[in-house]
Amino acid sequence: MPIGADLELLLQLADVGDGDTTLDWTEVFGDEKPVEIEIGIGKGRFLIDAAVRRDDIHFVGIEWAMKYVRMAHARCMRRGLSNVRFVRADAREFVEFFVPEKSVNAYHIYFPDPWPKKRHHKRRLFNQEFLSEVERTLVPGGRLWLATDFGEYFDVMVEVLAQSHSMREVEAEWMGAKTNYEEKYLAVGKPIYRRVLEFAPVE
Ligand SMILES: C[S@@+](CC[C@H](N)C(=O)[O-])C[C@H]1O[C@@H](n2cnc3c(N)ncnc32)[C@H](O)[C@@H]1O
Repeated sequence: MPIGADLELLLQLADVGDGDTTLDWTEVFGDEKPVEIEIGIGKGRFLIDAAVRRDDIHFVGIEWAMKYVRMAHARCMRRGLSNVRFVRADAREFVEFFVPEKSVNAYHIYFPDPWPKKRHHKRRLFNQEFLSEVERTLVPGGRLWLATDFGEYFDVMVEVLAQSHSMREVEAEWMGAKTNYEEKYLAVGKPIYRRVLEFAPVE
């Protein structure tokens, strides 16, 4: 039995290399609604709150750690949510191989692992290649929501974003539940760096 096969909201993914693995969101959710993706959901606080409040949106939560997928899945089941799906995968691989182009209305990336040691920087999620995949998969007008407590990583994100001709910073009211990490950092007075970008492709 594949890992997590008992979890009905968990997407079972084909093996990369087995031909075209691109998903069809209408098939995944059973109907057509805008899709928003959160990467690194942790305990799922943001995702679940958003799914409860916005039943006109389909939410996909990507998380590497199975214990968090199980925790957030149980919370969704208790609330009877049908507009959420979980993916247990490396987000970079999932976005590159499974997400169709021009199919995502928003990405939410809150407190991605900062990998502070220089020799580990290559493990960071946010880099030029990842941003290219975000641009490939966002619909025009789609948004990228970013937050981190880690100033040096934020500077890298801003530098990468500055190279893009299609992502422009927008003023947007910060919405939704605070994530677990956000609460933890706010409690100790750490600064939080945020940015909201809109995808405006150059013709
Ligand atoms: C620092 S925690 C933040 C969790 C949550 N966003 C919050 O703010 O409370 C980072 C989360 O991202 C997950 N993660 C890190 N790298 C990932 C990757 N490449 N793909 C999927 N999940 C990842 C980790 O397992 C962890 O749960």
